[in-house]
Amino acid sequence: MDTSKKNDANVDADNVKLLETVSAEWWDPSGIQKGLHAMNPLRVRFVIDGLISTGKINAENKNKPDVLKGINILDVGCGAGILTEALARLEGNVIGLDPSEELVKVARDHMKGQSLNIEYITEFIEDYSNKNPEKYDVVVASEVIEHVPDQKSFLLGMAKCVKPNGSLIITTPNRTLVSCVTTKIAELIKVLQKDSHVWSHFITPSEVEDILDEIDFDTTIVRGMWYTPIFNIFSFVPYQGITYALHAVKQNSKKLR
Ligand SMILES: C[S@@+](CC[C@H](N)C(=O)[O-])C[C@H]1O[C@@H](n2cnc3c(N)ncnc32)[C@H](O)[C@@H]1O
Repeated sequence: MDTSKKNDANVDADNVKLLETVSAEWWDPSGIQKGLHAMNPLRVRFVIDGLISTGKINAENKNKPDVLKGINILDVGCGAGILTEALARLEGNVIGLDPSEELVKVARDHMKGQSLNIEYITEFIEDYSNKNPEKYDVVVASEVIEHVPDQKSFLLGMAKCVKPNGSLIITTPNRTLVSCVTTKIAELIKVLQKDSHVWSHFITPSEVEDILDEIDFDTTIVRGMWYTPIFNIFSFVPYQGITYALHAVKQNSKKLR
């Protein structure tokens, strides 16, 4: 990332540069981004469950290979497209948005030869949302908000793109003493890239809920997630103190205009 061009943007350019240093490894399921690969089944399920809860998809179809057919999805902070591709494989119409040209190039290269309905765009959500209001059934940012300096501006950008009665979804680490310790452990066992996460930038579910509440989003589902290193799998658990997934629904768009 060219930091000189991004000084006034809502991005931690040094952090993105660090993520770019391992760009060649993003698609290695046992490489440094293996946690993102391992999280895919759970976060895809969370998206589907959210869409079922708003009536956008029928619960009877939840295991069908084309369950996301006709659903417009914006994947904000898509990186190299690990979640983006998984959503498109279920036939969602997916836009992947990320400020990193280098990671978006990895994403574009990886989708070559696959017939997936994905468009990748290098842009900030704040700019993109002004041009694309109320366009998406679901706007998701998975493992992104903890990397963003102005988290309220980021959430507002996401929110603008959501259709009325549409879904906003994030997954992110919680800011607790436990997550402070588990982040260090995750770095030691190489599930997280060293220094890529700053604990004080983590956001709690109630902080996200408060921001969304101000702009007429109802937070309807918050689920704790737990990583088991020996099996390299994530599971949903009642405990939300380490990392969590949050689903909110747009009630009324008047405050965003
Ligand atoms: C840990 S990666 C997650 C990638 C992807 N969501 C996934 O789970 O596979 C964090 C991503 O957030 C992106 N990012 C950082 N600041 C951002 C911002 N202000 N807006 C959107 N994306 C941002 C980075 O470029 C990086 O691709």
